[in-house]
Amino acid sequence: MELKGYPRGWFVIEISKELGANEVKPIKYFGRDMVLFRGESGEPYVLDAYCPHLGAHLGHGGKVVGETIRCPFHAWRFEGNDGKCVEVPYAKRIPQKACVRHHRVQEKNGLIFMWHCPRNSEPDWEIPTIEHYAKDGWTEWDAALLYIKTHPKEVVENLADKAHFGPVHGTWVDWFENEFNGHIGIQRARGVAYPRGGGEDRFELQSTYYGPGYMLTEMRSVLPNILLLAHTPIDENSLHLRFGAMIDLSNVRQGGEKFTAQYRENLLIGFREDIQLWENKVYRERPVLVDGDGDLGGLRRWYAQFYESASAA
Ligand code: FES
Ligand SMILES: [Fe+2]
Repeated sequence: MELKGYPRGWFVIEISKELGANEVKPIKYFGRDMVLFRGESGEPYVLDAYCPHLGAHLGHGGKVVGETIRCPFHAWRFEGNDGKCVEVPYAKRIPQKACVRHHRVQEKNGLIFMWHCPRNSEPDWEIPTIEHYAKDGWTEWDAALLYIKTHPKEVVENLADKAHFGPVHGTWVDWFENEFNGHIGIQRARGVAYPRGGGEDRFELQSTYYGPGYMLTEMRSVLPNILLLAHTPIDENSLHLRFGAMIDLSNVRQGGEKFTAQYRENLLIGFREDIQLWENKVYRERPVLVDGDGDLGGLRRWYAQFYESASAA
């Protein structure tokens, strides 16, 4: 099944604390130039980048005024909520056509999400609130931002790839299952990890994709933690992946910071091993599979639902 274009869903476009008050950032996702800014109320907004007047990029030099952004070229102002022009400082009438496309944005769990749908349909699922986020004892995500030259389907296939844990991550998995249900895709696994620093950690995890680009892993290991893996296509051949961990340090008396740094680094090392594979592999439309592989067929059917091309077929 060929997956054309970009998937539909909620995608992380920024970490909340990376976008300050009144800050403006140019962004590019889904092959589209856009501007992300935080209004004076604290609300984040995303608009298409190019001004309808003479085409300036609002993300390069644009300024926040209230809940609007002012174009750096001739100072037209556009509403964050709907992209309509609300002021042209030197004209009496504002033309109807003076607007830029706006995109639906939501801020939750310390993350800024954008809804993307090629047909412009409304969101049909919610981003669940993480109960422990910003609660006493839990750390922030401290997410790393990685640029990866691959198609998101390669990243998603990890969810069903039972057999790569050993060879790639040096992790022993003794129990594994997948479940696919609506927009949700789950992996449950139990096993033993062998961290770089020596020793072994028994772990039990549940990884849940909420739609095609946002995954949380609840991990019961040395310390309870939640991993974030959020990937958003930049264009057809590359993506941004944000990878972080919220760790519960409420029972740690001392050395929490050192542990956290070490833990994150171990995760990132493991993760770079996946990345190296993705950046150099080909995609097999019809792979040769064996009984010990995970449910790759189920995963591919689940993932295809987020693409126009597949649902039209
Ligand atoms: S190009 Fe934006 S106001 Fe002129
Ligand atoms: Fe992996």
